[in-house]
Parts: sequence; C-alpha cells; structure tokens
Amino acid sequence: MCFTDLTTGLLSGQGVLEASRTVGDLAGYWKVDDPSLAGVPLYRTQTWLCAEEGTEGALLWGNTTLMPGLVGDEFFMTRGHWHERRDRGELCVTVSGCGALVLMDQNRVTRMELMSSGSTHYVPGFTAHRTVNVGEEPLVFLCCWPADCGHDYGDIAERGFSGRVLRVGGEAMLISE
Ligand SMILES: [Fe+2]
Repeated sequence: MCFTDLTTGLLSGQGVLEASRTVGDLAGYWKVDDPSLAGVPLYRTQTWLCAEEGTEGALLWGNTTLMPGLVGDEFFMTRGHWHERRDRGELCVTVSGCGALVLMDQNRVTRMELMSSGSTHYVPGFTAHRTVNVGEEPLVFLCCWPADCGHDYGDIAERGFSGRVLRVGGEAMLISE
C-alpha cells in the first residue's frame, strides 16, 4: 500500500515515483512561447506503481500538482495525451484549487469540465485529456488509470487540442483554434 494524504493530495510510501515539468518543457505547446518563463516550475506528478506499467487488468494511482500562472493569456496547463490503447478511460478527483479538464474526442470536438475540491471526473476512452489551472492556487488532483493504457503524447505535441483555455476579460474560456 501507499498513503494518500487527502488534505494535500500527496502520496508517500514505497513505489511512488516523482516527475516534474517546467514551462519551457512545453515549448511549442503554448499559443505563444515566452522564453523568459522557461525555467518556471509548471507541474509535478507522483505515481504509485502498484503494478508494472503495461499489466493488463491492473490500475495505477497518482497525482498532479499544477501551478497557477499564465503564458501570455493562456493558463498554465499539462501537456495532455491520448491513451495509446484508445479505449482506455481514467478517473480524476480534485483535491484543491480551481481548474478545467479539457477533453477532446476523436472528431476533435473539445469541451471542458470545471474542477474544484471534490469534483470527480470520468475521462471516457477515445478522448484526449489535459488539465488547466484557472485559479490562483496550485491545482491538485488524483487520478486512477489502467496500467496498460500507455500514453501517446505525439499527436498532441504535433496538432494540439482544437481549443485552448485562455483568460478573456478575467474569465477562463475555451477558445476554438
Ligand atoms: Fe490519461
């Protein structure tokens, strides 16, 4: 087992791996890159590898802490991905902060669900997903996903989503590309 702190969303225990990204790691993803922000911390993740990645039928558990901020008028966001095995879904529950879960289907139709403490989100199969911090505090959420889903970042790196979450008149809006 591992321990999930339900106040902070942080995991501890054996088999918990950590990773982090800066704004510069997402160069090319932003509507307009800002090299002056390249070193700014963007998000960190923890994954409890309770099973080996790729194991059919197994589940994995993890969290993401996404910092607040803007690159131009675009809110800080995660890279976003499809699952390599497209039929695989995922569940996410928000611990704290204020965010948006951006979901795009295979017809490139994009929508968003607002995230706040306790909001629980189902990412169906065949759906690319990314999270965006639209608030002023870190956005922390927990996710559970199939160990055999795989992560396809390439398509999003190349084509992006069909909409971006931008600050328009002080509000977060999903704006079509
Ligand atoms: Fe996923």
